[in-house]
Amino acid sequence: MSIQLKNIDKAFENLVVFSKFSMEMPEKKISCILGPSGCGKTSLLNMIGGIMDPDSGTIDGVLGKEFSFIFQEPRLLPWKTVRSNLKFVLRQHPMNNKDKVIENNLRIVGLQDFAHYHPEQLSGGMKQRVAIARAFCYPSDIILMDEPLKTLDPRLKWNLMKTFLKIWRKDRRTVVFVTHDVDEALVLGEELFVFSRPPVRIKRQLNNSLGENQKNLDSRAFFEQKRQIMHHLD
Ligand SMILES: Nc1ncnc2c1ncn2[C@@H]1O[C@H](COP(=O)(O)OP(=O)(O)OP(=O)(O)O)[C@@H](O)[C@H]1O
Ligand SMILES: [Mg+2]
Repeated sequence: MSIQLKNIDKAFENLVVFSKFSMEMPEKKISCILGPSGCGKTSLLNMIGGIMDPDSGTIDGVLGKEFSFIFQEPRLLPWKTVRSNLKFVLRQHPMNNKDKVIENNLRIVGLQDFAHYHPEQLSGGMKQRVAIARAFCYPSDIILMDEPLKTLDPRLKWNLMKTFLKIWRKDRRTVVFVTHDVDEALVLGEELFVFSRPPVRIKRQLNNSLGENQKNLDSRAFFEQKRQIMHHLD
């Protein structure tokens, strides 16, 4: 089932962030949200993930669902190894092939040889790859991502996006991905939403028509889509 927000109101003191806001994000696809700083993107993820309640309105398609989060910082447990960090999120889950799931995801993100390392022994990009592997290890229905690639250098960012898509294609979940970066949105997103300043409205929604071979900076189609989206960003 898709995620459906209906008539959401949310205000902080006298700042109205959402007012009668509605939006639908398709199931098992990657929805990408772009918008200016402070427009309410993180608040939206928090409401979808049940961390924050709207003042009024309903969110359908989330009841009984399991969530994984990938944040800007990897938020690993520093006293645990890479493997133990992944084990930790599965500790209460009844699945019986945990070790296999962990090894498989570590292999996909290219960290199988670093499973015994502690976070402090890893680079920023490696830590973020652990966070991605952790999100996919847990059999969540919905993955919420809040600018997870922001701090990474451009080359690493592209590699991680490709890695993410590789895992996701084998194991499709509903993903809501928040970013400021149009390139990221065009590489990862299937359904793209451009938000306005608060009170938020969807200024533009488009289906990403770029094929896999067009998802590079040399592609004319990529440039054209980017130009269209930039036009709508505040
Ligand atoms: N717990 C809170 N208490 C008070 N105000 C809040 C709270 N959470 C968010 N806000 C306000 O709501 C607005 C939207 O915040 P939010 O964090 O959702 O924006 P954002 O789109 O994620 O911004 P950024 O791109 O900078 O991360 C901001 O003006 C922020 O100050
Ligand atoms: Mg935010």
